[in-house]
Amino acid sequence: MIKVLMVCLGNICRSPMAEGILREKVKDRDLEIEIDSAGTGNYHVGEAPDPRSIATTASFGIDISDLRARQFKVSDFDNFDHILVMDESNKANVLKLARNLADESKVKLMLDYASEKNLIEVPDPWFGGEDGFYDVYHMLNDACENFLTVITTK
Ligand code: 4NP
Repeated sequence: MIKVLMVCLGNICRSPMAEGILREKVKDRDLEIEIDSAGTGNYHVGEAPDPRSIATTASFGIDISDLRARQFKVSDFDNFDHILVMDESNKANVLKLARNLADESKVKLMLDYASEKNLIEVPDPWFGGEDGFYDVYHMLNDACENFLTVITTK
């Protein structure tokens, strides 16, 4: 069983969308992959995703309203094979908690899997409008598709 953890700052905007999108793709393909998400910060622990994230993913037929935010913890390095972070700041915060090279090697930017090679970070849509959430959805959808192809064709 491959285990994948999506990570952003608050675990209410980007990483729950990424979790929902990847879950849907895995379900469609009948794959055995476990998926979770977490935030490096603790500001929103226990909260549902941002209503704009819920609405955006719902418009593509994906329900993420049941997800609840939690904070990234060191034991996540033991429990997951792939830790996909949304931006460089998330990456730095996760790497600060890494205990060894094995932990570090699990951490990748989500957009390392983007089709467009000039995309590096999934922008934080928290302070912007609805459009930002749709942009994030499309980036995540593309990167999740490529990520699945990579991990299932190894
Ligand atoms: P996320 O977005 O990291 O994509 O969940 C954010 C949500 C909340 C905050 C920052 C980013 N915040 O500062 O509360």
